[in-house]
Amino acid sequence: MVGAARGAGFLSALTAARERVKLLGIYDPDPVAAQLFLAEHGGERTFPTFAEAVTAADAVILASPQHYHAPQAVHALDAGVHVLSEVPAVVSLEQASDLLAATRRGHAQYMLAENYGYMRSNLIVGAMVRAGLLGQLYSGEAEYLHEMKEAHRTSDGAPTWRYHWQVGRNGITYPTHSLGPLLEWMDDRIEAVSCVGTGRWTDSEHEMHDSVTLLGRTRRGGLVRTRLDLLSNRPHLWDYYAVQGTGGAYEAPRARGDGAKIYLEGRSPRHEWEPLERYAQEFLAPKYAHPPEGSGHGGSDIWPLLDFLEAIETDTQPPIGVYRALDMTLPGIVSEESIAQGGGWVRVPNPRTLTAGIGTEPGHEGSLS
Ligand SMILES: NC(=O)c1ccc[n+]([C@@H]2O[C@H](COP(=O)([O-])OP(=O)(O)OC[C@H]3O[C@@H](n4cnc5c(N)ncnc54)[C@H](O)[C@@H]3O)[C@@H](O)[C@H]2O)c1
Repeated sequence: MVGAARGAGFLSALTAARERVKLLGIYDPDPVAAQLFLAEHGGERTFPTFAEAVTAADAVILASPQHYHAPQAVHALDAGVHVLSEVPAVVSLEQASDLLAATRRGHAQYMLAENYGYMRSNLIVGAMVRAGLLGQLYSGEAEYLHEMKEAHRTSDGAPTWRYHWQVGRNGITYPTHSLGPLLEWMDDRIEAVSCVGTGRWTDSEHEMHDSVTLLGRTRRGGLVRTRLDLLSNRPHLWDYYAVQGTGGAYEAPRARGDGAKIYLEGRSPRHEWEPLERYAQEFLAPKYAHPPEGSGHGGSDIWPLLDFLEAIETDTQPPIGVYRALDMTLPGIVSEESIAQGGGWVRVPNPRTLTAGIGTEPGHEGSLS
């Protein structure tokens, strides 16, 4: 385990999979945090350096601050160690190129631990979309509104990594919880983004605007809108999604007390929403139906690690490999250029044809080993 704080979010999965995987130890540069993790959660030892953890382990879970994900992943992949990385996958196009090159030149597995697609309602919607019930999706919306000023400084006032990497840049700096489910349902990727913000109102020392909106044009011709707000004074809303297809629509709850609702043309009463839960029995895969108590983020935290283990054991591509991980992450990086230009449309590179590492033939997808 790499990173003691968010690392604890993976414990329910490690417990559920204890016959298949053993927690060897923890690396965290804060020795107090590492010792506490060991005492509370188990494992054999703390590692004094990341490199020593990689030498000892078959796989690493990267729950470090976001700018370390890609460099640590590259180091581990080059050592033949499998990587489950927290979100986002990278913080720059240079890191994206390095990560791609490492996944292409090695044989170890890489998976992004994007968990929001594994939330119960999102699993149901995904299965209904795949069964064709919503027709062709052409519009997707998502919002991640999470005021977390207390996480921008330590108790003695020093800026944290979030100060620099989440609100110290302007754009969609935390994109994957919103884009992950939408792009999976739409079976699509974003080709160009336009990004605008509200300006700075609440906590104006930060580079980031209070509320930032991204529009994304998809390869299939659809439109995506996401909103990221880490500063405004308001209750949290981490998991708002809405999609519109030729055969129906889905709307997630906006606040406690609301229900998730779906409309299926020809099946729902005309122009009336139905509770999504009505379709749970038919569409929620039994595999994901019963997350154990203690699995955070609405039960979703357990599933990425279990799917990662299955990919290693069966030597198959994990559900969120490097290309999908970058499809969810790169629009956010490119959004910084767009917002700086006042909202101009900026192309999002397709990771499949980036010439990182072994390179690709022009117009062809690069193979993954
Ligand atoms: N998927 C989710 O739902 C979810 C939820 C929370 C956080 N996250 C992600 O998890 C990561 C960690 O977030 P957090 O909330 O634990 O942050 P945090 O600031 O609470 O804790 C970060 C921890 O990482 C340690 N650390 C610092 N540098 C490190 C390094 N180079 N290698 C290993 N550990 C290092 C720190 O000492 C600290 O213990 C972030 O990338 C964040 O985006 C994801």
